Amino acid sequence: MGFFNSIFGSRKEQSSEPTGPFVNPVQVEFHSHLIPGVDDGVETFEQSLEILENFHKMGMRKVITTPHIMSDFYKNGPENLIPLRDELRLKLKEKGIDLELEVAAEYMVDDGFQDKIAAGNLLTFGPKKRHILIELPFMEEPRNFKQSIFELQVNGYQVILAHPERYPYMGMQRERFLELKDQGVLFQMNMLSLLGYYSKGVMETAQYLVEKGMVDLVGSDTHHIRHFALLPEVHQNRWYHKVCQADLINNIL
Ligand SMILES: [Fe+2]
Repeated sequence: MGFFNSIFGSRKEQSSEPTGPFVNPVQVEFHSHLIPGVDDGVETFEQSLEILENFHKMGMRKVITTPHIMSDFYKNGPENLIPLRDELRLKLKEKGIDLELEVAAEYMVDDGFQDKIAAGNLLTFGPKKRHILIELPFMEEPRNFKQSIFELQVNGYQVILAHPERYPYMGMQRERFLELKDQGVLFQMNMLSLLGYYSKGVMETAQYLVEKGMVDLVGSDTHHIRHFALLPEVHQNRWYHKVCQADLINNIL
C-alpha cells in the first residue's frame, strides 16, 4: 500500500469504513513474548519494559504475555515465570507505568503436553482463569491434537488456538477451521499476518478467517521491538478494521 493510501485509505477502502478516524477498540494485548530470557522473545528487562511502556502509550490497559512452553526447547512453567512476572510488575511500578501485566503461556501441543494437562498446573487466564493458549508445529498437525483438545475441554478449559492462519496444512485445507470451530476452539489471529509479514499465503488465510467471522481475538505475537513497530501499520489496515467489528474477546480477558 502506498504512503497516501496507508494514511488515508483508498477510495474503495473508505467506502466500506465507518466515517471518522479509526479508534482501536482493543485494550488488552494478548499474545507476546515479553518475559526476558525464557524463550525466543525479549532477552532483557530493559527490552521488555520498553515494549510494555509503548503498549501503554498505545492505549492498552493490560498485557497478557505468553512465553513458549515446550517439552524440549523451552521448559518453562509457573515456577520460573511467575517470579519473573512479579519482578517485571515491580519494575513497571517503579517507572510509574500504570499497566496490568499477566503471564500465561503459549503451550506447544507436543509429546509432553498431555502430561502437563494431567498435572493440572497450567498457566491460564481469562475471567475464570480457564482460558488456555496452545500452538501447533508448522510442519504437520500433531497426532495428539484432537485428544489434547478433548482432555482440556473435559477438564473445563477454554481452548484458544494461536495464529491458525500460520499453519500451512490448515490454510490449504480450510474445512479444518470449521471442524475446530465446531469443537469449540477459539481462534487468535496475529495482527502482523494481515500485513503479509509471515507470507502472502498466511495473509490470505488471515483475510479468509476475518471474512468468515472466525477470529475470536487478536494478538501482536511481539517478540521484539521491531514487531511492535509494525503495529501502527496494522491499525491502518482495512482488514484489521473489519476484524475489530467482530465480537473480539480481548477486552474481557
Ligand atoms: Fe507466540
